[in-house]
Amino acid sequence: MKVAVLAGDGVGPEVVAEARKVLDTLQCGIEWTELPWGSAYWHEHGSMMAPDAIPILRGHDAILMGAVGDPSVPDPESLWGHILKIRQELDLAVNVRPARLLPGVPCPLAGRGPEDIDMVFVRENTEGEYAGIGGRAHRGHPTEVAVESLVFTRAGCERVIRYAFGLAAGRDGVLTSATKSNASRYAYPFWDEIVEEVAGEFSEVRVERVLVDALCARLVANPASVDVVVASNLFGDILTDLAAALQGGMGMAASANLGLDGQPGLFEPVHGSAPDIAGRGLANPSGAIWSAVLMLEHLGLSPHAARVMRALEAVCANGPRTRDLGGSATTGDVGDAVVAAL
Ligand code: NAI
Ligand code: MG
Repeated sequence: MKVAVLAGDGVGPEVVAEARKVLDTLQCGIEWTELPWGSAYWHEHGSMMAPDAIPILRGHDAILMGAVGDPSVPDPESLWGHILKIRQELDLAVNVRPARLLPGVPCPLAGRGPEDIDMVFVRENTEGEYAGIGGRAHRGHPTEVAVESLVFTRAGCERVIRYAFGLAAGRDGVLTSATKSNASRYAYPFWDEIVEEVAGEFSEVRVERVLVDALCARLVANPASVDVVVASNLFGDILTDLAAALQGGMGMAASANLGLDGQPGLFEPVHGSAPDIAGRGLANPSGAIWSAVLMLEHLGLSPHAARVMRALEAVCANGPRTRDLGGSATTGDVGDAVVAAL
């Protein structure tokens, strides 16, 4: 199994090292290709990735990523030269983000526990608000203008919505569609229509349409009422940081960027490069290790995935824990503990 490693910037390399340590313990035949693309590469070469990055990635079975972004590089440059480009060019249609509070992890909501917080977000991953369509004119003049268009295609919406229905059918049978069709005139009403249409294929799933602002409030006030959520690119991005907080913080949240046509999937923690804590061994590697679990499932190694998840759950329950979870362990201590639990 060939896995490309995009450790990236900031805490990215720190948390990816722990995920690799854990997978190497399994001895399940993974061969790593380290790719040095990120902000340091940009300073040296003027681009975030090599010109043939996409074909190189396509030649692997999966991609394990840390995060990109560094204060020395403008964010649109680093994100559009790297992760957003990979999602679009590999056509990784669906971003699956489980948000489950593991036993032992402190929850910021008073009186809530693991039984209340167990959701999966399905985020549209290649278009919508992050389609990258727009422009600026008259720079520096009083008439300066910036236009950025949301793009929903029928094909792009249908595939992610259908995926979410399938997931909901295998869980509680309830799908929440995040929308904003009260204020939007064209795009989110179109999204709602497609949800209604696809619902016809899944009579076993009850679908509810919830305005995204109300959904934010509900995630805090009554998280147990939410199971599978399907959302546009921007809404999914925002909702999953909120959900990450509910499951113990940014360091806990994992994600899978999946293509639907046999492409290599890309697996990354939800968090960014966290420059505020980088280089100090403070980053929680749980989100990266959990992302590696999702990668093992993608590679058809479900028994291994289940073993790693059990080991991660045991470490969350018994410690050691990093500072964000109230402990004082380092990133490496947590990775070592997961290895020991395995
Ligand atoms: P961030 O997710 O990096 O950090 C937000 C907060 O969460 C910070 O206080 C940070 O210390 C904490 N945090 C993040 N990961 C953690 C971990 N593993 N353990 C403990 N605490 C953790 O988001 P921020 O600060 O908005 O962005 C930093 C950079 O990352 C920016 O350049 C941004 O564009 C980039 N970014 C990249 C992403 C990617 O590569 N997929 C995703 C999100 C942001
Ligand atoms: Mg985000």
